[in-house]
Amino acid sequence: MTTSITIPSASDFHLHLRQGDMMRMVTPKVEEGGVSLAYIMVSPNLQPPIKNTEQALKYKAELEALAPNVTFYMTLYLSPELTADEVRKAAKAGVAGVKSYPRGVTTNSENGIENYEVYYPVFKAMEEEGLVLNLHGECPSDNNNDICVMNAEEKFLPELKKLHKAFPKLKIVLEHATSKAAVDMVKSLGDTVGCTITVHHLQLIVDDWAGQAHHFCKPVAKYPHDREALREVVKSGHPRFFLGTDSAPHPVAAKEGPRSNAGVFTTPLVLPYLAKIFEEIGCLEKLENFACNFGKKFYGLSQKPGFEDKKVTLVKETNIVVPQQYEISTTNTDLGAVVPFYANRDIGWKIAS
Ligand code: NCD
Ligand code: DOR
Ligand code: ZN
Ligand code: ZN
Repeated sequence: MTTSITIPSASDFHLHLRQGDMMRMVTPKVEEGGVSLAYIMVSPNLQPPIKNTEQALKYKAELEALAPNVTFYMTLYLSPELTADEVRKAAKAGVAGVKSYPRGVTTNSENGIENYEVYYPVFKAMEEEGLVLNLHGECPSDNNNDICVMNAEEKFLPELKKLHKAFPKLKIVLEHATSKAAVDMVKSLGDTVGCTITVHHLQLIVDDWAGQAHHFCKPVAKYPHDREALREVVKSGHPRFFLGTDSAPHPVAAKEGPRSNAGVFTTPLVLPYLAKIFEEIGCLEKLENFACNFGKKFYGLSQKPGFEDKKVTLVKETNIVVPQQYEISTTNTDLGAVVPFYANRDIGWKIAS
């Protein structure tokens, strides 16, 4: 007997598509994974950096050329160079949000908590213009204050609460939540605070990445009870928790080298992975809202005209094996290939062609 489900194509509210040859390999795979709306993250190490509206629009055009059926929403990177004026300009150009990484923020060494107050004029402009603040919610590790990757997210949460209190109308998304503490905090805050959950954090715990480079990502996967909290909130159908894959491809050599780069690559198979996980945890019927509806509703965004009604059919079958790797077409010998999440494993679900 074949089981199949048909849902709208998905929205990924946190995606890294990189640049150059890596971008050219990864971007066409967005649609293959069943995603037709992608919210693009710019990291501090993109070259050239994406720090203003003009650069964001140029990057968007490159992505659109590689994936014409996908609707892209762009973000800017929060840095001291970002002004309230640039925020207003970005909003008019359709930029949807601003991403804050801990390292873009000055650290108050006394308690390891980040000081966002220098950005309050920027946040005010964002609140007025309806731009979303995307938080990578981790405190930098700090041995003197017992902060390390296992509690870096939890230690950050008071900062989220404080920001929400200071800007109650500003939409804030706590990105890639990994802990029960984060789930509880987001639930306790108002309707303007949302939370993305990745594919891999619904599946992994610390034992899965300790010694296994391809499961290493930031924030790291945590305790069993943390994964359980992520699964429970998804199962409960809470509308402020939605898909943001944080799919973050790195060349195999960088993953398997002496110091593994953080990132799990899920883009080519987003919906099949999710179907497997949601089925296993017994809530396949919650997949549609989590992956297709809640994020768009929180953001107030949709697919571009003519692309709103795309559907995806997921089929359950045996022997759906994830490729060992995806080759990058390149002359750069540092690049090579990218190993996806669950490489070589049977995930039991595919997208009907
Ligand atoms: C990120 C990247 O590669 O874009 N690197 C990382 O986490 N290892 C940059 C970032 O997220 O800060
Ligand atoms: O695992 C991660 N990889 N986490 C991030 O926040 C960034 C990302 C990347 O860009 O590689
Ligand atoms: Zn992040
Ligand atoms: Zn990310």
